[in-house]
Amino acid sequence: AKLAPFVDTLPLPPVLRAEPGGILHVRMAETAQKLHRDLPPTKLWTYGGHYPGPTIEAHRGRPVEVVWENALPARHFLPIDHTICGAEDDKPDVRAIVHLHGAKVPRKDDGYPEDWYVPGGSRRHRYPNAQDAATLWYHDHAMGINRLNMYAGLAGLYLLRDEHELSLGLPSGDQELPLVLADRLLREDGRLYYPDSGDAKSPWVPEVFGNLTLVNGAILPRAEVQARRYRLRVLNAANGRFYHLRFRDGRAFQVVGSDQGLLAAPAAMTSIFLAPGERADIVVDFADLRSGAAELMNDALPLMRFAVGRGLVRDDSRVPDALRDLPRVDETTASKTRELTLDEYSDCVATPMLMLLNGKRWHDPVTEKVRLGSTETWRLVNLTEDTHPIHLHLVRFQILDRRPFDVDEYLEKKTLRYLGPAQEPPPHERGWKDVVQAHPGMVTRIVATFDGYPGRYAWHCHLAEHEANEMMRPFEVV
Ligand code: C2O
Ligand code: CU
Repeated sequence: AKLAPFVDTLPLPPVLRAEPGGILHVRMAETAQKLHRDLPPTKLWTYGGHYPGPTIEAHRGRPVEVVWENALPARHFLPIDHTICGAEDDKPDVRAIVHLHGAKVPRKDDGYPEDWYVPGGSRRHRYPNAQDAATLWYHDHAMGINRLNMYAGLAGLYLLRDEHELSLGLPSGDQELPLVLADRLLREDGRLYYPDSGDAKSPWVPEVFGNLTLVNGAILPRAEVQARRYRLRVLNAANGRFYHLRFRDGRAFQVVGSDQGLLAAPAAMTSIFLAPGERADIVVDFADLRSGAAELMNDALPLMRFAVGRGLVRDDSRVPDALRDLPRVDETTASKTRELTLDEYSDCVATPMLMLLNGKRWHDPVTEKVRLGSTETWRLVNLTEDTHPIHLHLVRFQILDRRPFDVDEYLEKKTLRYLGPAQEPPPHERGWKDVVQAHPGMVTRIVATFDGYPGRYAWHCHLAEHEANEMMRPFEVV
């Protein structure tokens, strides 16, 4: 049966704010939550009893401590693949570790995939918040099963603010809405369903696409808004789906920020393509829509509706032409360039399909040893037929360019022969990023300064199913 659209109000996750010196407590627990008016409650695993988890509000320069408590059941309700690295038979089924995506934190607080703990356990993380305002998010990262834990509902937003951003006058308060997008497969009775390969011994599948998208945990919700500007903090929290966001009426919006905070200047767009893990900070104006409605779409499919009220309201918000100083990194300051391939083996060598970074598995010795404070250029040579959203922990980076190359020649001789000029990133990708879409047949170059903390961190594809099955590698800051 088709679910009636726009009958539920857009849920807003509860907000958690740390008092100075205070500690936040967040419990992971099994939850039953209604995702639509006409569905019975769905079993989920959530942070704080709600999907998405509470939005943690933090301010630059004020560290936050969170005790993440694992109060999940002892058995998993989604299919674990015990042939996958880190999820072998000798490991407990239910394990969790929280990663604050996009945060610059010491290694012990980062949520390293092997730092998981079992139900009954907890872990205290200290987040220094010594970085620019940005739309960060937290999600599970437990080795070999985090795709299942995230799919079960373990994700939430962490909005880091700073004085500069607050001084700009962007829409705020009720005019700022978090939008956490994630698709899911739901049965008619509302039960969550995760697909499997058909092979009971190794149920892993390379990609998951839902039949429905949840916006803040609701199917096709409706937000009552006023005829004024709104700031939308959009997160693609899906395991595998890319969203091509636009409004049904084609209205333009302004992208003011990306993964790691504000752009230098707003980018006017009518659609934006968002990969899993990426964020878009968008300002849209409904002033022309008194008593009308705007629908947010993924291509031709509606995701939610903004129902605009009749009243005439005064709007004091603004979108300045200059948002912040954001110099482009001079790539000649990089002391090292690394060439790193994105690989796929789908022939008889590997069954099922296997995707790797630079031909290596998670447990192979660390090859990316980066000097603390140094700047490096990474050339991501995508030899596969898919776009992989590549995420680095610890650092923010800039996209230098993307350039088409001859994949066959590279596979044969390991030589890089370009087939066209390098393409600069479009304006909305010219800010600080922590996820980059590495397109097929392209060399995508990023440049990062590895400052902050020494230690071992992860970099990986943010398609959760790829990451789970070896498309993740450690790097070490020394
Ligand atoms: Cu959002 Cu290592 O992940
Ligand atoms: Cu991938």
